[in-house]
Amino acid sequence: MPEFLVDSPQVKQLLSRAAGLDQPGSDQRLKRIVHRVAEDMCRIIEEFDVTPTEFWTAMSYLAELGRTGEVGLLVPGLGVEHFMDLYMDEKERKAGLRGGTPRTIEGPLYVPDSPMVRGEARLDQDPEEGEVLFMEGQVKDASGGPIPGAIVHVWHANTKGGYSFFDPAQSPWNLRRRIETDAAARYRFRSIMPAGYACPPQGPTQRLLTAIGRHGRRPAHIHFFVEAPGYRKLTTQINIAGDEYLHDDFAFATREGLIPEVVRHSDSADIQSHGFDGPFAAIHFDFTLNREAANLPETVVIREHARAA
Ligand SMILES: [Fe+2]
Repeated sequence: MPEFLVDSPQVKQLLSRAAGLDQPGSDQRLKRIVHRVAEDMCRIIEEFDVTPTEFWTAMSYLAELGRTGEVGLLVPGLGVEHFMDLYMDEKERKAGLRGGTPRTIEGPLYVPDSPMVRGEARLDQDPEEGEVLFMEGQVKDASGGPIPGAIVHVWHANTKGGYSFFDPAQSPWNLRRRIETDAAARYRFRSIMPAGYACPPQGPTQRLLTAIGRHGRRPAHIHFFVEAPGYRKLTTQINIAGDEYLHDDFAFATREGLIPEVVRHSDSADIQSHGFDGPFAAIHFDFTLNREAANLPETVVIREHARAA
């Protein structure tokens, strides 16, 4: 007999039949993936001597993840969404692509079809006491040329770390816009400085993180998609420099090249010259998009999103 039950002829046959491998036709790749998942589950059971109660506790946990909508929270928490980024980087590198703004995880809170504006937007529509944030820059190609007409999707949390559509206290589309770059490929927006946030404390993601001795906090950040015809879609975030969790993000999204300087303006002449009526923080950040090419992996991700009602 082999050392492990999972390697016995009986179990090999069981898993082969369970994955449909003994049947002709259908999706061979899917069969192999299903087989691997089932086999790895059996190996875990045997290697860690998992009891039936532990096994069904784990199955209930997965069901709860689905019920609570936290699948998209646990996956980055386990580092797997960041791994997808590293894997895409690696495939691009092997295809000879270099440069461009680094990608980083989308996270679970994008809502499509936000209001579209040209050039300049105001994101904070709900009254909230917070540090005024002004962010601007250009969308460029790999040689530094401007890309007018690029679409910058921006979404971020409020000062309490909540997102519109997920936080009932906020109005629809608060802190969410699409900005089309102007003739000089510029985008700019006024908003309020977002706060970092944490996984829901009673949710299944935080329970698992706590059980393995981890926190579930993210540093303050702003999410972006940037797209333009003929260019590779960019999914990224910028982090707010100085946040205590900047390099201790539970979702592993912080990357070099995505931490722009935050410049605080408090001089009254300076404030007036920018057209503001009080101190504000300013961030300059240019996005660089790579040209699309047939040999590169797809950057448009088909993924379930919350929808505006
Ligand atoms: Fe976020």
